[in-house]
Amino acid sequence: MLSLDYYVLSLLFVSTLTENVLQPKGDVTATEGEAVTLDCRYNSSSTTSYLYWYKQDGNHSPKFILSRFKLDEGNTADDHKERFSSTLNSTVRSVPLKIQKLQVSDSAVYYCALWASDP
Ligand SMILES: *[C@@H]1O[C@H](CO)[C@@H](O)[C@H](O)[C@H]1NC(C)=O
Ligand SMILES: *[C@@H]1O[C@H](CO)[C@@H](O)[C@H](O)[C@H]1NC(C)=O
Repeated sequence: MLSLDYYVLSLLFVSTLTENVLQPKGDVTATEGEAVTLDCRYNSSSTTSYLYWYKQDGNHSPKFILSRFKLDEGNTADDHKERFSSTLNSTVRSVPLKIQKLQVSDSAVYYCALWASDP
């Protein structure tokens, strides 16, 4: 059994404090080989929102997984391209992280972060 915890947080408040990501904490347990989706909803009035997913393993510093600013557009770290994906939905303001073919090494804390520019 794998255990994945995730937190969502605002990385930076550029314009107003109304920019935020919702759902403070979740956790998911899954079996090796399965696929899981970690949810992240954000609440931003800005037209330009960048969403980021990071992974933190033990005491190491958070590692960049991917960023999205529109649908599938954004960057994905080379070593995460194979099994990690996300599609940003700006209508419902969500950026779920999908992890496929889970491995034991995926057990970690995942962070979803929002950066929004001025509206
Ligand atoms: C987003 O934030 C605004 C301002 O705080 C609030 O009025 C609105 O209800 C929030 N929307 C959601 C979906 O939480
Ligand atoms: C966004 O989510 C809504 C509600 O689930 C869905 O109807 C819509 O097709 C989605 N948009 C994209 C671009 O996936």
